[in-house]
Amino acid sequence: GKSGYDHYMLKEINEQPLSLRQCTRGRVDELAGTVGDEGLDGLDRPDRVQFVACGTSYHAALYGASLLRAAGVQADAYLASEYAMTPCPVTSETLVVGVTQSGETADTLSALRIADDRGARTLAMTNVVGSSAARECDRTFLLRAGPEIGVAATKTFSTQLVGLAVLAEHLADAEGADPDLVTALRDLPDLAQQVLDESRAAEVAEEFDGMDAYFFIGRGLHYPVALEGALKFKEITYEHAEGFAAGELKHGPLALVTGRTPVFAVVAGDGALARKTLANVKEVEARDAPVVVVSDGSQEVAGYADRVLEIPESHPATVPILANLQFQLLAYHVADRLGRPIDKPRNLAKSVTVE
Ligand code: M6R
Repeated sequence: GKSGYDHYMLKEINEQPLSLRQCTRGRVDELAGTVGDEGLDGLDRPDRVQFVACGTSYHAALYGASLLRAAGVQADAYLASEYAMTPCPVTSETLVVGVTQSGETADTLSALRIADDRGARTLAMTNVVGSSAARECDRTFLLRAGPEIGVAATKTFSTQLVGLAVLAEHLADAEGADPDLVTALRDLPDLAQQVLDESRAAEVAEEFDGMDAYFFIGRGLHYPVALEGALKFKEITYEHAEGFAAGELKHGPLALVTGRTPVFAVVAGDGALARKTLANVKEVEARDAPVVVVSDGSQEVAGYADRVLEIPESHPATVPILANLQFQLLAYHVADRLGRPIDKPRNLAKSVTVE
């Protein structure tokens, strides 16, 4: 049941600290060299990694491809429905990873079959034991998020990001390995709990419902978070939402920005990336857009943001997971205020078994 929550989605959002703990159990220690893992044990470094996925899982794949490249592994993310049409280099040393919480998404299964025909090795990253993806791939990495009933993917997305961080660390070359990430993954469930406990997303939802459109922006690893923030928002609120790479705003989307289009930006870390996103925040603020910044406090954002959604400081690879929790709660609260059928949005199914 819903354990007292009005919706499965809210229950599942709140279960994330536990899901994250289950996902890292045994694996994060393995990175320290002590425990084996059924998904990645003995997996050699491939010549390249190709991710195939749809929807929210594709956003996870974009994050995974960035992390792998930073770890010194060639990696690309493909929309599963486009993979067949995309000529791309595949050898017997190529690893194709299907990121699919259900393990039953037809587009993803079909891309994995094409990968197999092309001679690649395949890995399913899935939440469902015995799913088609798990049965058909050479290897399975189980997310262990626990059952997800709401059509909107929440805890499976967060655990996908963790799984992909673990994969990146597993495949990293000597230069790419990052012991700080191991510590950050261990600390993540507590930080996630803190975000859930202290989130002001409900107040922000109250302030900004009934606007014309909602835009989400981020750079680097926060770009997939912007895309995911917008997808979740449109999926359950039925309001128009779009995610953009922050730097792309002035190449077109800025024409849409008005005083009735709130812009949600992720600004975290003290590097150039955050400073540049902050510059984009100033651009939209100058066009009167209401601005909400998800901030870890490392940039001075108060002067530009109408509202701040705070997250604790953490490793660059775990910040996106924490930032996304704020966007999940925001989408949930706006949808709830609008009286939407949050767990079963119109026209959508939990797993999409047709191409
Ligand atoms: O089961 P999968 O991860 O393969 O599903 C892929 C998408 O259909 C899914 O993520 C969809 O975008 C969600 N409903 C988003 O919340």
